[in-house]
Parts: sequence; C-alpha cells; structure tokens
Amino acid sequence: EINFFFPKQQTLAVIKPDAMEEHRERILEEISGSGFSVTQLKEMVLSREMAEEFYKEHREKPFFSQLVEFMCRGPCMMLILTKENAVEEWRAMMGPTDPEQAKATCPNSLRARFASDILQNSVHGSSNEQHAEEKISFIFGDISSDAETIGRDTSGT
Ligand code: PPS
Repeated sequence: EINFFFPKQQTLAVIKPDAMEEHRERILEEISGSGFSVTQLKEMVLSREMAEEFYKEHREKPFFSQLVEFMCRGPCMMLILTKENAVEEWRAMMGPTDPEQAKATCPNSLRARFASDILQNSVHGSSNEQHAEEKISFIFGDISSDAETIGRDTSGT
C-alpha cells in the first residue's frame, strides 16, 4: 500500500472591517467547516503605515488610497489558515474580487453573500504561496513552533 503525503500549506486570511460586525462568526464557522485549521488568529486595527505596506503591490492602482483608508476604518481579523492547497482553496471560498461577478459566477462564495462592493468585499486571501509567507510574517512576526491552535483542528483527518 502506498501512502501519498500531501504537505500542508499556509495562507493569510483577513476578515475586513465591513464584515467584522455582521459576518465574522459565520465566516469563522465556514472556515472550520471547510477543513482549514486556524493556526493563528488575532484581531487588530491596521495603522495607515501598515495598510500601505500590506498593499504595497497595489501602490500604483487608482483605488490604492481608498483601499488603505477602508482597511484602517476598524478592526480586522487576521488568520493563518493551514490545509493542503490552502492558498487556492481559500481564494475559491472567497470568490471573485467584485461581488457582482461573484454573485453571477460563484453564488455560494463568501463575497457573493457578504460583500457590499468591490472595495468593501469582506475578505482577503494571499494570492500565492510567496505572498502568503511574506504577509504572514508581516502580520504575525516570527511564529513560534508551539503556536496555539484555535478552532477545529482537522489535521488528523
Ligand atoms: S489584481 O490587480 O488582480 O491583483 O487586483 P485584485 O486582486 O483584483 O485586487 C487587489 C486588491 O485591491 C482591491 N480592489 C479594489 N479596491 C477598491 N476599488 C477597486 N476598484 C478595486 N479593485 C480591486 C481588491 O479588493 C483587492 O484587495 P484584497 O484585500 O487583496 O482582496
């Protein structure tokens, strides 16, 4: 018998300020229900400087200052999600950036159900493995190996 080993992958997920009051609990439940392990979690208000650094790849985009402003408006929930293929799976769960497109193409996605518009779109997820690593250490710093696991740990299943 051959046992294939699928390595776990990490991604950074953010519940954005627009979704914190109304939809946070539901989003957290769905994350756990979809087999992600939440290996780190913290609530924080981003400073302008942090938000600008976090979105530095989009500095030249016309919506940059709006995006930074919005992300500092209130608390965000920062999560490290661990699962096989976590980056892609979390992106799929979020759905397309624009909720109108999300409603048309992925009606069950989080953005289709919870986002108000392309700016206030409820959730963020790293776009690739390198970004995931970079943003995780930016937000959480150096993660110690005895990190507490919060939420349902599905690592044994
Ligand atoms: S890109 O160029 O494909 O990387 O852009 P995309 O991933 O679609 O968007 C990057 C982030 O910018 C936000 N965004 C916008 N904000 C405001 N207005 C407009 N028009 C707009 N278009 C994109 C989008 O929500 C992305 O934020 P994150 O937090 O990464 O999801």
